Order: sequence, then C-alpha cells, then structure tokens
Amino acid sequence: MSIATSIENGICRIGFNRPDKKNAITAAMYQALADALVQGGKDEDVKVFLIHGTDDCFTAGNDLQDFLMNPPQGDASPVFQFLHAISTAEKPLVAAVSGRAVGVGTTLLMHCDMVYASEQSKFSMPFAQLGLCPEAASSYLFPALAGYQRAAEALLLGESFSASQAQEMGLVNRVLEADQVIAYALGQCSKLAALPSTSLRTTKMLMKKGNAKVIAERMAEEGIHFKALLNAPEAKAAFKAFLQKAA
Ligand code: COA
Repeated sequence: MSIATSIENGICRIGFNRPDKKNAITAAMYQALADALVQGGKDEDVKVFLIHGTDDCFTAGNDLQDFLMNPPQGDASPVFQFLHAISTAEKPLVAAVSGRAVGVGTTLLMHCDMVYASEQSKFSMPFAQLGLCPEAASSYLFPALAGYQRAAEALLLGESFSASQAQEMGLVNRVLEADQVIAYALGQCSKLAALPSTSLRTTKMLMKKGNAKVIAERMAEEGIHFKALLNAPEAKAAFKAFLQKAA
C-alpha cells in the first residue's frame, strides 16, 4: 500500500509508504491522498490530519516515470484533486517531515497548519530544473512566506534548504531530533483533537479566508503552464535523464 491511512483518537494519519522509491507519488497515490482528505473531512471521527513519510524520507515528489507515461490532463486528474483537497481542507492539517521533501513534498507543506521537521530534513522545489514551473500556489505562497529573494533562490535555482532555514522562513514550526518528530507531531494533533471542532474549523476558515480566492486562481494559472511545460521537450528530457541515471 503506497498511502497508508488510519484513524485513531480523532487523528487521521496519512502516510507516504513507498520507501523503495523514496515515496515518489504516482497518480494512484494522489487519488488515495485526495480521497483520504475528502472522506476524512466528512467523517465526524476525524478531528485533525497528520501527514507524514517514512523514517528517512517525506516524499521525492511526483513520480517522474508516472508523470512521463500518464501526464495529468484535466482538472479531474488525481494530482489536481489532491491539490484542491489539501488547499481547501477545513480541518487542521499537521505535517511531520523526516528526510527529503522534494517538489510537491515541499509545496504541500504550505497548505498545512503546522509543520514539524527533523534536523536532517531537506526541502527543495526543483521545478525549473525539470523544465516545469511551481504548483500548489507555491509561486504565490512561498514569496509571501519567505520573502521574494529567498523564494527566488528556491524556485528559480531549485536550491535545497535545511530544516533550520525552513524554520527561519516560516515553513516549519519546530525542528526536532529525528526520533522525536512523529511523537511530537502526534502530541500536537492530540491537543487539536481535544478542542471543539467547530472552533478549530472557524478559526482556520477566518485565517485562510483572505487568501482563498487568490490561491485557487493561482493554482489554476500554474496548472495551465505546468501542463503545457510537461509536454515540452525540456521536461521530457529532464525526466528521462533522471530515470536513465537511476536505471
Ligand atoms: N520519481 C520516480 N522515481 C523516483 C523518484 C521520483 N521522483 N525519486 C526517487 N525515485 C526512485 C529512484 O529512481 C530509485 O529507484 P531504483 O531504486 O529503482 O533505481 C529509488 O527511488 C531511490 O532513489 P535514489 O535517487 O537512488 O535515492 P537517493 O537517496 O540517492 O536520492 C532523492 C533521493 C529524492 C534526492 C532523489 O531520488 C531525487 O532527486 N529524486 C527526484 C526528485 C524529483 O525531481 N522530484 C520531482 C519534483 S517535481
């Protein structure tokens, strides 16, 4: 199972679980993620979501092989369903990051309410290096969070950054020792699960309201460019180069 989900004590855990491929996300996994968020959103037993990876990796982002073979087409594509679900989730989202968070592995964090990361975790958004452009409204959210120049280093040069840099930029709440990340994040989830759900949802809605329209618009605009770039020779060549190196 490449996405592992479970519900206990009000916490819906959604885990990337494809360690042999560094938790790279296929279309089927995007669908499972979208379904878990939508179903959990309707389930009264779910008060909060915890998104996490495996011990040494959060996720290497889009599965490049899968993207090459089955590029996303319309808005109903699993990847766009996932981006819609995570950006509009009404219940709190907590993320626990260990190891690499590449591409959407970093951009999805911009939609989480709280992010905890291990000292060894590394973040990167190498979209331009792959002939692509940002997604998940990160072209709007990351400059707003980190400041334009720091966002430009990360999004134009695709330079990776450390957990402490991510914390400095406001992407990560707290940096922890590797063996404490999940336990700490679960503790924060338990605190949230004990609070009145309606208050949490209302508070989150009020905090997010000002950006909701611009996020949806930016995500749609990014999607148009992303789909076009995905079919351009630069992206195909970059994907093949990675996959040949791996072969
Ligand atoms: N898509 C498809 N397969 C991927 C993948 C991805 N995004 N990331 C890793 N894998 C696969 C590798 O091909 C390899 O498969 P193999 O064992 O069958 O050869 C396996 O996962 C292990 O990856 P490897 O590169 O050997 O691990 P590493 O520890 O040396 O490096 C990363 C880890 C994440 C730095 C590196 O895998 C990487 O850069 N991946 C691509 C990230 C990326 O560009 N994502 C897309 C963003 S839009």
